Amino acid sequence: MIVFPCVLIFYIIHLTKGDDCVIDNRSPYTAWDQQLRKELIPCADKSKPPNANNTNVSARFQLKSFYFDDNLINFHANIWLHQAWNDPRLKWDPKEYDGITELVISNRNIWTPDLMQYKTTTFQEFYNIEYFIAPCTVSNTGFVTCVLRRVLESVCSVDLKDWPYDTQNCTFKFGKVTKSDLVTFVFNSTRIVSMFGAEYGPGWNIIDYSDTKYPNGMIQFDFSFILERQAEGLGAIVVVPPLVLAAITLLSMTLNVESRVRLSILCFSLLNHFFFLQEISSDIPKLGLNTPTVLIFLRSSVVITLVAIGITFVLSNLYKRTIPPHNYILILNEKVFETYGKYLIWPRWKPYKLDESNQDVNSKFASTWSDFSSLINFVSMFTIAIVYMIMFFAYIPRKPEF
Ligand SMILES: *[C@@H]1O[C@H](CO)[C@@H](O)[C@H](O)[C@H]1NC(C)=O
Ligand SMILES: *[C@@H]1O[C@H](CO)[C@@H](O)[C@H](O)[C@H]1NC(C)=O
Repeated sequence: MIVFPCVLIFYIIHLTKGDDCVIDNRSPYTAWDQQLRKELIPCADKSKPPNANNTNVSARFQLKSFYFDDNLINFHANIWLHQAWNDPRLKWDPKEYDGITELVISNRNIWTPDLMQYKTTTFQEFYNIEYFIAPCTVSNTGFVTCVLRRVLESVCSVDLKDWPYDTQNCTFKFGKVTKSDLVTFVFNSTRIVSMFGAEYGPGWNIIDYSDTKYPNGMIQFDFSFILERQAEGLGAIVVVPPLVLAAITLLSMTLNVESRVRLSILCFSLLNHFFFLQEISSDIPKLGLNTPTVLIFLRSSVVITLVAIGITFVLSNLYKRTIPPHNYILILNEKVFETYGKYLIWPRWKPYKLDESNQDVNSKFASTWSDFSSLINFVSMFTIAIVYMIMFFAYIPRKPEF
């Protein structure tokens, strides 16, 4: 009784292991297709290029999407590479194969052109692009077209000077694997990369594009994307507060030094400089070539506010003085306030109110000291305004124009 199951198992194993299909349920077309593959593919050695001299490969890159690493170092471009070339070894006569004129073959089974991406300007660092498995279409004339997909990486020149309106230049360089490589890439259109609809990525837009073709040498072509940060919201958050703080510091200089308000406003401005720095520190990218100039503006503004506080202390002391002033102060006052200069000096403060007792004695001195303080205040205010103006043009980032 044990023999019967053993025989059964033996038969089952034998049947499943059998190489020859007993029933051929392929359609006639599939049969011809498989016959063609069997005869065609082994004839074309995929390790050797189709021509001994040179194979022209017409190519077109299509950008599908892109993104930056979180740390803004690597730019990733999801690319479709359309390629077309002639491989005479893959020709056949359709009449011999039931009229089949086209075959779809995996790029792993036929020769495809090698393309090297040079990652840096130095020639040493490069890597051969390995594509994902893709179908290629081979026609009976030996014309092969492939659409290969790949996420390419490039290190961009990260320059944060104009942050948050910074632009980055990301370049991809491609070329031959070896000097004696027998492939030349040619391009149908004037642009190597088409990117219809793909120029808007997460956080960045591609605003400019350029490419170069090099007829000789290892590097055959390159292309660059100029990316602009999407900074509509960030721009307002980062650019407006420093300007408001600068205005507060400047306007506080018009207040009388006698009043406590002036000092309070300056201290308020100073504190807010630091609060603001803390607020934006999480938004600022940590890695990059240059310091964002908006930070330089802020740092300088802190110094200016400190200077304004110092001036306020010194002036409040000068303003309340009752001792006889030095001769040069009298001469200076005379030079300014007894000419048209007096229309320029603003604000001109009233003399400090003294005690009733010694008013007569010191009122003349008091007006000299108040005029002198007004003069110093005006000069410092004017200087600070000029410095802020220069800083505004030098350090406040603007939207780039392309
Ligand atoms: C380039 O143009 C030729 C002729 O119009 C076409 O056969 C080929 O497929 C094109 N190449 C690419 C990559 O689109
Ligand atoms: C971007 O960089 C490449 C390579 O360094 C350069 O050829 C190209 O002119 C640059 N583009 C711009 C707009 O600066």
